[in-house]
Amino acid sequence: MMKTDRKSLSTHLKTRHPFTLTVTSGKGGVGKTCISVNLAIALQKHGISTLLVDLDQGLANVDVLLRLCPGNTLHSYLDEQSSLEDCVQKGPEGLRFIANRSGKEGSRILGLKELNGIIHDLARIDCPPEVILLDTGAGISETVLSCSAMSDETILVTTPEPTAITDAYAMVKAIHRKRSSAVVHLLPNRVRSIEEAHKTTNKLTSVAKKFLDFDLCNFGWIQEDDMVQQSVQKQVPLLLESPGCPASRNIRFLAAQMSSTIRKHQVLNND
Ligand SMILES: Nc1ncnc2c1ncn2[C@@H]1O[C@H](COP(=O)(O)OP(=O)(O)O)[C@@H](O)[C@H]1O
Ligand SMILES: [Mg+2]
Repeated sequence: MMKTDRKSLSTHLKTRHPFTLTVTSGKGGVGKTCISVNLAIALQKHGISTLLVDLDQGLANVDVLLRLCPGNTLHSYLDEQSSLEDCVQKGPEGLRFIANRSGKEGSRILGLKELNGIIHDLARIDCPPEVILLDTGAGISETVLSCSAMSDETILVTTPEPTAITDAYAMVKAIHRKRSSAVVHLLPNRVRSIEEAHKTTNKLTSVAKKFLDFDLCNFGWIQEDDMVQQSVQKQVPLLLESPGCPASRNIRFLAAQMSSTIRKHQVLNND
């Protein structure tokens, strides 16, 4: 079904296991794609080679935010119309990304086996990435839950709105049901104050602990910032368009934390 380059067993054994990070949410439109793109750029700026994969199966738009043509998408590879290498495009700051197709009804469900196959193959491309960041679609679906289940860690984005928090909790329940050992970082986005960020985080961590005995991790927050909309309008990533704005500073803080987690993971798994 999927094309895998044949390499010798010795090369296979030496292959590094990339750190895999899923970005997801319950409710749509909470900022997953903006965060994925900018977090990926921030990690790349930390010297961590990063590959961003658009796994929004219905409404893919990473390419739009990067003002790049989708070209060969992940589906070209899954349909055996192109090699995985031919789907990898170059983005800003040396970031690489794989686009997905948008606007197709009845989007293909990707289960654990298929997703593990993709990650396995991505670990074997030329100059394999150290991090694979998966930007998923909103809502509870087999693809999103499988992404989270096979990732090293998951970032669950929510806004402080009660509807987004309710949907985030529904997602926490579904992720926990699928893999109770999942590492889930909560990320409140569009917060107007630190108090609002803490309130959002506390609500979710306390219900997850009480009803599921599941510990969610705190991962910081991202402020409401008009520069985010402006950067989307211009199709220039926020970190490049307004590196000094509050949301950019928040994202750099998250990337600094994530990069130390990634370095630890590399020491434990590869060396
Ligand atoms: N921190 C923020 N401050 C202000 N607006 C934001 C922020 N984060 C996201 N947005 C707005 O939300 C919109 C949707 O974001 P997007 O990343 O496409 O959401 P999702 O991928 O979750 O559907 C963006 O186009 C932007 O206008
Ligand atoms: Mg999106």
